[in-house]
Amino acid sequence: MPFQPHAPAAFPTARLRRLRASAALRDLAQENRLSAADLIWPIFITEVPGADVEIPSMPGVKRLTLQGAVQAAELAAELKIPAICLFPYTDPAARTAHCAEAWDADNLVNRVIRAVKAAVPEVAIMTDIALDPYNIDGHDGFVSGNRILNDETVEALVKMALAQAEAGADILGPSDMMDGRIGAIRAALEAHGHQDVTILSYAAKYASAFYGPFRDAVGATGTLKGDKKTYQMNPGNSDEALRLVARDLAEGADMVMVKPGMPYLDICRRVKDSFGVPTYAYQVSGEYAMIAGAARNGWINGDAAMMESLLGFKRAGCDGVLSYFAPAAAALLAAG
Ligand code: PBG
Repeated sequence: MPFQPHAPAAFPTARLRRLRASAALRDLAQENRLSAADLIWPIFITEVPGADVEIPSMPGVKRLTLQGAVQAAELAAELKIPAICLFPYTDPAARTAHCAEAWDADNLVNRVIRAVKAAVPEVAIMTDIALDPYNIDGHDGFVSGNRILNDETVEALVKMALAQAEAGADILGPSDMMDGRIGAIRAALEAHGHQDVTILSYAAKYASAFYGPFRDAVGATGTLKGDKKTYQMNPGNSDEALRLVARDLAEGADMVMVKPGMPYLDICRRVKDSFGVPTYAYQVSGEYAMIAGAARNGWINGDAAMMESLLGFKRAGCDGVLSYFAPAAAALLAAG
């Protein structure tokens, strides 16, 4: 008889409750753990006067000024959160159809990158590459009639990526879902001496209702015309996520992301099992809002739900999670 590691014993030889009988035994038998090192903290930044306030649909999350972003990075360092991720709320007057603000070397994101790198060099900075915070109609790419232009957008994204790399970004996060952008960005980085800048591709990004509060946070809610279904994925698809991940890895992505997180844990597991590469999930704004909003109403235990939701990503095979809960979770972990 060959050795059978999973040969089941019958009751009462096997009592699976034995390993749950005390905190010590539960700790010893725990298969997956969350640590602060698994977290990437997305923050919203603005210099629009009066906009650095709490976002009503994201209880507990504020837009930050440049100085506030530096303080957030200092807090990340203190809490051992390895990376922050920047999302700008742009002055509505600076949003245009040509989106030139997106690759301005001195736009807010690029100035924040420089300020944070100067003050807290040990915290990695991730950026977002997509045109929506700068686009008059809230889309991630250039719009012509009712079409989102792919190749023209990729050229703009390359300029955006180079400006961010030049400013000192460590991790570029293309979130736009245009075809061919990873290859184009990787080639441009190599050509301009940025061979060590990493790309965390939003490879499997679904057209999701859970992005609503984020669009409030970056001021895209009123401006977005139509939906993003011609570039973001159909929530009914799973094999397509694997094709997208394979494609982005072949084009030069170092890490890949599944987004949103909680409704797509099956995709996280398939991606990790199929490719074995650094795999991240984005616990997006709507997921945050559900937990934080219910907690604020006293309907669930907020801390417990937060930790359980984050641990779920580790169990699903993720190496890490982008989450607005990052500082609260890291503080709880530090407190033991
Ligand atoms: C846009 C972008 C979005 C998010 C990150 N980058 C929204 C969208 O695609 O409409 C969503 C993040 C969140 O909901 O927390 N490029």
